[in-house]
Amino acid sequence: MTQIWPIGGGKGGSGKSFLTSSLGRLLAAFDKKTLLVDLDLGSANLHTMLDVPYPEKCFSDYVQKRVSRLEDIVLETPVPNLYIISGARDSLDIANLPYEQKVRTLKAIAKLDYDWIFLDLGAGTSFNILDFFLISQNSIFITTPEPTSIENVYRLVRAVYFRRIRQYFNVTEFKALEEKVVAQYGEGSFNKPDSIMRVIKTSHPKKGTLLENDFNSFKFKLVLNQLRKQNNIALGPQICKIMEKHLGFHVEFAGNVAFDDRVHDAICQRVSFLERYPYTRTAYDLRELSKNIAQSGNQQMLLRYS
Ligand SMILES: Nc1ncnc2c1ncn2[C@@H]1O[C@H](COP(=O)(O)OP(=O)(O)OP(=O)(O)O)[C@@H](O)[C@H]1O
Ligand SMILES: [Mg+2]
Repeated sequence: MTQIWPIGGGKGGSGKSFLTSSLGRLLAAFDKKTLLVDLDLGSANLHTMLDVPYPEKCFSDYVQKRVSRLEDIVLETPVPNLYIISGARDSLDIANLPYEQKVRTLKAIAKLDYDWIFLDLGAGTSFNILDFFLISQNSIFITTPEPTSIENVYRLVRAVYFRRIRQYFNVTEFKALEEKVVAQYGEGSFNKPDSIMRVIKTSHPKKGTLLENDFNSFKFKLVLNQLRKQNNIALGPQICKIMEKHLGFHVEFAGNVAFDDRVHDAICQRVSFLERYPYTRTAYDLRELSKNIAQSGNQQMLLRYS
């Protein structure tokens, strides 16, 4: 069965694509078929990190129905067992992907036959990005030690949480829910997950239980990338604690990835950092992370589209 791992972070440049390509290389080396989907449309560059020549087939060929099956736009990479769907020629921003196309794509990804699928989701919290996060129970959130990046990743995790709640209600129900929460807990309380969940559990007990089960089965993992020597090594676990306290569900700290100037050199030279610099702290961290991911994924799909 396929494990799907969306990868995102609130801020550009945190290392989503580097992490996606590195995890892809490492998991493909376990002799498992691995697919990377570049959904950072508009600034897709995963193909460059994998040294795939400018892709002839792209995500837009599927969206604009020039090809009918998602499988038809899968490209090989120079790495055995590693495949990519590129977004390189797509000018469309994923935030503007029409609803019907989004649902069609989500369903098609969920049916693909690979051992691991990683989605590079780009930055931001548009509804479309959140819906790609909610394709499965697994997610990897990435941040750097900078407060701005931490702030954005916190917002992203909270937005995914809210989006999941939203998927259970139609527009009228959701509006009524909002009014109830505000009436009960005051202005601004609709931003607080625990107030919303309390109201859901009393006014929609069945949905409340289903949502609670959902959140309990989520595998949300946080990666702290570009950790420099002067940074606090315990920062990642601290961020997870804060998320758990304020959002009410568990975000597992999956590990630090050390900063190394040679990441830049490897990307510029279009070579694999892991192969060129295997004995660095960063390469060690990435290998540990890949083991953590390989051992812990959930295979259940979360799609709520008929
Ligand atoms: N662990 C690291 N050590 C040093 N530099 C890193 C590390 N991870 C990423 N970088 C650098 O950060 C830059 C951004 O990385 P990457 O392109 O993976 O980020 P991104 O989150 O995908 O950005 P975008 O949102 O623009 O797509 C790269 O140029 C890379 O050189
Ligand atoms: Mg990127």
